[in-house]
Amino acid sequence: MPTWQRDLEMVKSLGLRLAMTVDTHIHADHITSAAVLRRESGSRIAMPAAEHLQCADIGIEHNVPLTMGSVALAPLHTPGHTETHFSLHAGDRVFTGDALLIDGCGRTDFQGGDAGTLYHSVRDILFALPNDTIVYPGHDYTGRHASSIAQERTRNPRLGGDRSLEAFVEIMANLNLPYPKFIDHAVPGNRACGLCPDNLPDHLTSYCPAVGESRQG
Ligand SMILES: [Fe+2]
Repeated sequence: MPTWQRDLEMVKSLGLRLAMTVDTHIHADHITSAAVLRRESGSRIAMPAAEHLQCADIGIEHNVPLTMGSVALAPLHTPGHTETHFSLHAGDRVFTGDALLIDGCGRTDFQGGDAGTLYHSVRDILFALPNDTIVYPGHDYTGRHASSIAQERTRNPRLGGDRSLEAFVEIMANLNLPYPKFIDHAVPGNRACGLCPDNLPDHLTSYCPAVGESRQG
């Protein structure tokens, strides 16, 4: 089952209606389900305003709330993983995208990424939230789902404790990560809110709808 279908079934099983999808950033190695979810459920698509994406219904701007009924998300501009990355704060929880991960952070070596910028985003903006704020990261490859600001501020091996700016920049400059396999397709696909980009190899087309399939009806 594709991830979008799993997620939509979860929303429906809770008796809810999907009102909006919010992409924290233009991600480099997965294609967003925003367009197919809009097609399937009529949800609106929020993307960082500074990306000027034609496919988005709403532009995300710092501290301009995204409201859905009684729910309001406060976007916090947290650049560094990418230049236009946002975290989303709502009450006692924060969705940190790829800026802050559990015991880690997103890489900073493409799409306008910058380690020094990420250091300040995490430590000055996210770590300034109350200690017991629950952190929901964009990924965790070991099956964890949530952390807290106190835990990351204390234990995050890259950004926590008394880690200096210089030490963090040094860590990020020496990760020697491979070029993301999917980036040449994922970035244009995500800039189209999840439509399959041109020249997508056949074995990847199950990840996204083709142009023309994206709108309801
Ligand atoms: Fe990312």
